Amino acid sequence: MKYRRIVIPQSGGPEALQVVEADLPEPAPGEVRVKVLSAGVLLADVMWQEGKVPGGPKPPFIPGYDLVGVVDRLGDGVSAPGVGQTVAALVQPGGYTQYASLPPEKLVPVPEGLDPAEVVCLTVNYTTGYQIFKRVAKLTPGKRVLVHGAAGGTGSALLDLGKVLGLEMYGTASKPKHDLVASLGATPIDYRDEDFVERIRSLTGDGVDLVVDHIGGAHLKRSFQTLRAGGLLISTASTAQIWGESTTLELLWGLIQLPLWNSLPNKKSAMLFDLVRFNKKNPAWYAQDLKTLMGYLAEGEIKPVIARQMPLVEVRQAQELLLGAKVRGKIVLMCN
Ligand SMILES: NC(=O)c1ccc[n+]([C@@H]2O[C@H](COP(=O)([O-])OP(=O)(O)OC[C@H]3O[C@@H](n4cnc5c(N)ncnc54)[C@H](OP(=O)(O)O)[C@@H]3O)[C@@H](O)[C@H]2O)c1
Repeated sequence: MKYRRIVIPQSGGPEALQVVEADLPEPAPGEVRVKVLSAGVLLADVMWQEGKVPGGPKPPFIPGYDLVGVVDRLGDGVSAPGVGQTVAALVQPGGYTQYASLPPEKLVPVPEGLDPAEVVCLTVNYTTGYQIFKRVAKLTPGKRVLVHGAAGGTGSALLDLGKVLGLEMYGTASKPKHDLVASLGATPIDYRDEDFVERIRSLTGDGVDLVVDHIGGAHLKRSFQTLRAGGLLISTASTAQIWGESTTLELLWGLIQLPLWNSLPNKKSAMLFDLVRFNKKNPAWYAQDLKTLMGYLAEGEIKPVIARQMPLVEVRQAQELLLGAKVRGKIVLMCN
């Protein structure tokens, strides 16, 4: 039997992605073969492909952080999860495929009745939000949060979750997406026509308790200025290099400054957050937090914003839509 996977043979953007057809291999001993139903598309995938993430894999590799699928066959020595069980996994890289063979400890069971397209919105975007809000910043209801890129896949997830957690939220986005930001319970800020630092000051008085910044570079300093005393800046990525808004030097300087800011006597702090590294250090938390989020989904407390569901082979167009900031919410690849 043949299957398809998407490979990046050499560093490059969406145009470099190739659909490869191959014979479907048996799972190796100790692994589980999963028939992939849905896989997430993230801006970070493009940064990995382009070699812009230090320590990232060298091509050729299969991009994609996460997937949801059904256990299809067990390798020798594996007895669970059983064939037919729906599972979710943070694979990074390796999500853009119709089948994946994975170690069973990576697989989190998905309760029956959940939509795989919605569940794959939780595996990176909502877990990032949950762990930042609850495990790192330890926010309580009423705390103020500023989320950049608030109408994107990760941004909309953070707001949807922040609503459940009772946070007071502000979100930067381009003007046409303000209705989405407002519908998720946040006050929208037009970062293109307004100075978001001044706007936060005028809206809140003394600033926010947490700001989540995926832009990086010189943007980090401005985000830090939105904090009130005791506030925390979390840098999750440096997408300014994608949008061409910062030079490499500015991006590096932004990251170097973070630990320096922690020694200032203003009671504010700053740190990096990386979902994969965070959960390598605390292996039990990922499954625990994803289960909590799947519970919220089952109860209808959260509702992921899905921009588009696209077939796996349309992955180039999917990434181009992300790079053009043309989407509201998350793009999901439907793989089988
Ligand atoms: N560290 C981690 O563990 C972690 C986890 C999850 C995601 N992330 C990172 O989060 C980033 C976002 O990923 P995503 O896939 O969710 O992207 P996305 O859906 O494409 O959303 C990003 C959005 O940001 C907006 N934007 C661009 N420039 C902006 C600016 N200067 N200020 C405010 N908003 C701006 C754009 O929309 P508009 O301009 O139209 O508003 C864009 O659509 C990625 O870099 C990813 O690596 C990191």
